[in-house]
Amino acid sequence: MSNGENRGAWGSKIGFVLAAAGSAIGLGNIWKFPYICGENGGGAFVLIYLVCIVVVGLPIMIGEIMIGRSTQKSPVGAFEDLGGKRSRWKIVGGMGVFAAFVMLSYYSIVAGWACHYTWLSISGEISGGDPKEVGAVFGNLYENTNANLGWHVFFMALTALVVLGGIQRGIERGARILMPLLLVMLSVLLVQATRQSGWDKALQFVFEPNTDNLTAEGILEALGHSFFTLSLGVGAMITYGSYLRKDSCLVSNSVAICVLDTVIALMACLILFPITFSFGMTPTAGPGLVFQNIPVALAQMPGSQFLCIVFFSLLVFAALTSSISLLEVVASYFIDQKKWSRKKATLVCTAAITLFGIPSALSGGTDLFGANFASAKESILGEEWGAITKGNWFDFADYVVSNWMLPLSGMLIAVFCAWRLGEKVRRDEFVRSSTLGHLYAAWLRLLQYVVPAIILVVLLHSTGVLKALGILD
Ligand code: PFF
Repeated sequence: MSNGENRGAWGSKIGFVLAAAGSAIGLGNIWKFPYICGENGGGAFVLIYLVCIVVVGLPIMIGEIMIGRSTQKSPVGAFEDLGGKRSRWKIVGGMGVFAAFVMLSYYSIVAGWACHYTWLSISGEISGGDPKEVGAVFGNLYENTNANLGWHVFFMALTALVVLGGIQRGIERGARILMPLLLVMLSVLLVQATRQSGWDKALQFVFEPNTDNLTAEGILEALGHSFFTLSLGVGAMITYGSYLRKDSCLVSNSVAICVLDTVIALMACLILFPITFSFGMTPTAGPGLVFQNIPVALAQMPGSQFLCIVFFSLLVFAALTSSISLLEVVASYFIDQKKWSRKKATLVCTAAITLFGIPSALSGGTDLFGANFASAKESILGEEWGAITKGNWFDFADYVVSNWMLPLSGMLIAVFCAWRLGEKVRRDEFVRSSTLGHLYAAWLRLLQYVVPAIILVVLLHSTGVLKALGILD
C-alpha cells in the first residue's frame, strides 16, 4: 500500500477544492476583510489586495500544494523528503506547524464569539436595535472569561469531531455540506443588501479606486491579509495538497481556491457596507464592525431574528472549515512523523491547543493575560514596542503569528520552491494534467524574484527598518 493510501486522500477533485477553499474562507473573509477594507478607504485597498492575491498569494499557493502533493507528506516530512533528511529546510515545516498551533488557539476565541452570537440570536437576546445595548453585549462578552472559555472548549471540540473523521469522512464531507451552504446563506444576505438604500454608495466605496485614503501601510496590510486569507505560510496547503491525487491539475485548483476566497470576501463587503451606509454607521468601526453593527442593522429589517441566526451561524461554519485545516496541520505532523493514530493525534493536539488558548480566552479581563499582561509587556519591551505589539495576550499572539510567522515562512516556501526544488519535480508537478502549463516560466520568475522581494519589504516594515530609513512614516 502506498503512503498516500495509508494516509487517506480526497475522494474527488471537487472535494479538495471545497476543503481547501473552506480553509481559506473563514473569519478573515467575513470578519476581518470588511473592517480593514473600511479602515483603508475601500476601492483602492481592494484593488491592491486583488493584485497581492494574484502576484504573491496564488504563486505561493501553487508552491505549497506542489510541495505537499509531490511528497504526499505533511510540512515537516515534505521538507525532509525534498530538502534532505539533515537539511535545515524542515525547520520551515516545523515553523508552519507551530504557527498553526498558536493561530488555532486564538482563532477559536473569535469563532467562540460567533457561536455566542448565534446562541443570542436564537434566544432572541440581540434582536433589539439599540446600538448602545448591542455594543454592551459585545463588551460584556469580551470581558466574560467564563463565556469565552466555555465557547472556546465547545468550538475546539467541534473542530476535533470533524478532524477525527479523517480525510474523506470528516473533512471532505464537512466541506461538501458546509461550503455550498455558506454560499447560499451569503447570497440570501446579498439579495437583502441590494434592497438597502446604501447599496449604491457601498458599490462605489468597494469598487471605485479612490487613492486619497490609501497609505503605504494600507498596501502592506493588504499584502499581509492576502497570506492570512489564503491560509498560506502555516503549511495548511502543503497538508491538504498531500492528500491530492496525482492526476488533478494543481494550477487550476489553486486558481479556483483563490477565486472562491476573493468572491466571498467581496460578498462580505457588499453585504456589510450597504447596511453600514443605510443606517448612518461608519465603515471604520474596526474589529467590532461585524459583531456590533450587523445586529443593529438587521434589527431594522423584517425577519431580523432569522437573519441574525443565518449570519452568525454562517460565521461559525466559515470558521469551522478553517479551524479544521489548522488542527489537521498539527495532527498530521504527529500522524506522519511520530506514527500516532489519527485518534490519538487529534485528541492530544486538541487538548494541547485548547489549553494553550486559555490565556487568549482570559485576555478580555483585567488580570494576568489582559490589562496586566499588556502593562508588563510594555515595561519589558518599552513603550513603543509595547504599543506596536498591542495589548493583551490574544492581540500579542495574533501579532506574532500574522506579522512575523506567516510572511517569514511564506517567503521561505517561495525561495524553497524556486531555488531548491528540483527542476524536474517542479515542472512535472506544474504541467501534469494541466492546460495552463505555458504559465510555468512566469510562475517561476514570480517565485524567484518578485514574491521574496515583496515579502522582504513587509518584514522590513514590521521591524521598523523602513520607518527608520524614512521610507515610510
Ligand atoms: N484563511 C483563514 C481565514 O481567512 O479566516 C485563516 C486561516 C485558516 C489561516 C487556516 C491559515 C490556516 F491554515
